[in-house]
Amino acid sequence: NLPPVIAIDGPTASGKGTVASLVAQKLGFHYLDSGALYRLVALASEKEGIDVNNGPALGQLAENLQISFRGGQIFLGGEKVTQAIRTEANGLRASNIATQPSVRGALVGLQRSFRQKPGLVADGRDMASVIFPDASLKVFLTASASARAERRYKQLIAKGISAKLEDLLQDLEERDARDSSRGASPLVLAKGAQVLETSNLSIDQAVQTVLDWYQSTS
Ligand code: C5P
Repeated sequence: NLPPVIAIDGPTASGKGTVASLVAQKLGFHYLDSGALYRLVALASEKEGIDVNNGPALGQLAENLQISFRGGQIFLGGEKVTQAIRTEANGLRASNIATQPSVRGALVGLQRSFRQKPGLVADGRDMASVIFPDASLKVFLTASASARAERRYKQLIAKGISAKLEDLLQDLEERDARDSSRGASPLVLAKGAQVLETSNLSIDQAVQTVLDWYQSTS
């Protein structure tokens, strides 16, 4: 019997990462931030000078990624890249390389290896549809584009990074469109997924809703 999975998918900046990691903490489950893997491939490919359209080279790079997670930090090779993968530019690059089936295929096994006892909370775009189709609970977590842009704006400003709300909204809509329209594992509402609209919910309310839904599955 495989350990249980809670799959949380949704668009950019919907808050799914925050909600998913808190749900994992509450349940004592492992947490997979699948977007971080695409961001790592994006950063590595930029360092190696690989074009975002070079599917075969990107696939090979993704197969051989030297990554590790230690003490809340992410390492690529020996280098700490926790911050570097989070930039807007790298996020856009990630959404480009994520359209390549070779990259997606290379990351399937790695993502599934996070499914360990006592359970896993996984967030991304295709957790429920492709990676963990047998998840115990499938949540599609979303919020309006303007609510998401505002959240990201506040996050960046809080970190002392300057940002323009207008540019963020535009980036976000560009990424939404690409993530939803690509041929390989597009962001879709998976069969059996429950929609959680968070535009008017606090983080605590969203976390509690997911926990309540999970209780009612078992
Ligand atoms: O979630 P995050 O913004 O960190 O993801 C970065 C990019 O990686 C997304 O825009 C999306 O294109 C891609 N991604 C994906 N499938 C996932 C997770 C992320 O295609 N499961």
